[in-house]
Amino acid sequence: MIFDEEINQTIRYIKPSGIRKFFDIASTKKDVISLGVGEPDFITPWHIREAAIHAIEKGRTFYTGNKGLLLLREGVCSYYHRRFQVDYDPHDNVIITVGGSEAIDIILRTIMQPGDEVILPTPAYVAYAAIIEMAGGKVVEVPLEEKDEFKLTPEALKKALSNRTKAVILNFPGNPTGGVMSEEDYAKIVPIIKENGIFAITDEIYAELTYEQKHCSIAQFDEIKDRVIVINGFSKAYSMTGYRIGYILAHKDIIDMCNKIHQYTIMCATTPCQYAAIEAVNNGDNDIEEMFESFKQRRNYIVKELNRIGLKTHMPQGAFYVFPSISCTGLSSEDFCEKLLEEENLALVPGNAFGDAGEGYVRISYAYSLQEIKLAIEKLEHFLSNYR
Ligand SMILES: Cc1ncc(COP(=O)(O)O)c(C=O)c1O
Repeated sequence: MIFDEEINQTIRYIKPSGIRKFFDIASTKKDVISLGVGEPDFITPWHIREAAIHAIEKGRTFYTGNKGLLLLREGVCSYYHRRFQVDYDPHDNVIITVGGSEAIDIILRTIMQPGDEVILPTPAYVAYAAIIEMAGGKVVEVPLEEKDEFKLTPEALKKALSNRTKAVILNFPGNPTGGVMSEEDYAKIVPIIKENGIFAITDEIYAELTYEQKHCSIAQFDEIKDRVIVINGFSKAYSMTGYRIGYILAHKDIIDMCNKIHQYTIMCATTPCQYAAIEAVNNGDNDIEEMFESFKQRRNYIVKELNRIGLKTHMPQGAFYVFPSISCTGLSSEDFCEKLLEEENLALVPGNAFGDAGEGYVRISYAYSLQEIKLAIEKLEHFLSNYR
């Protein structure tokens, strides 16, 4: 780089995403099967697409208010009340963002002061650590363990606290582990959050994908509700990744501050896509159920098959990822994925892309057709025969 010293030094030293790095290599090869990307394979349901088309046809092509269309904010609040029994006010407690991604960015920039620490249970979605650092904060990783079903335990949370802790990130159901926290699990960490006066940033983007129990939002705990910041969006639940619509639910003071960043950098989320999201949130419950059944079938199939071919895989309770252990091969997760790509043309994501705690695992997304999943299992089985 010729501008080494002239660019922002925090940005310079942030590692590029371990997922993207891998898929850049995969894209240079022919006939690669990829189970790497975390995006549902369904085309957005027609009535939702139609709402976007209709908005454009009707000339709804102008900026909306910064916080997003009131109809959408009302829809989001009634959705949270209906599905998760949490009440928010559409005027005060919601901001519509450009995907969950913008939501993560602006909330961290809103609360972080230089040197503040954020507790990050890992393996974690790749964006959190980078955004915490870009916001001037320090990441404090807490390893989640398979023996705890990748849940955050009160002991682990307590150990990571310091007098600089500003927030803890909660992502349940989680990417990449599929870990889920029940009401009883949250009840054990809520007093710690309360006593230490920290924020709980809960990314609930996979809330509609919990297989054995209904999703519990930590925002249901009234005693810390003011300290809970909910991030969610439309990408995963309604297969709307390309629309880029997400939101934050939080105390009015937090939303007003987030809105300052949002109004100067983004103005508002895309207008026709906000109309599509209104249709999704008001009339999309059946679409969620249909996609859910299909994901559940794929999850059951892939977990059974991975264990059969010798990769020990715990049954994830949520999201659409499995996280098998590759320790039986003796390879590091990066070596495993590189060799697999080279020898079998199969692309997976190395577990260490999600933090050090992910070493010894790989992430496989099953948001792909059963046909592709079956082919991938055949390739994996063939690959593993060299390591026995
Ligand atoms: C845990 C988690 N949060 C947030 C996002 C961002 O989603 P989007 O910006 O499409 O809403 C993702 C995407 O994979 C994710 O896995």
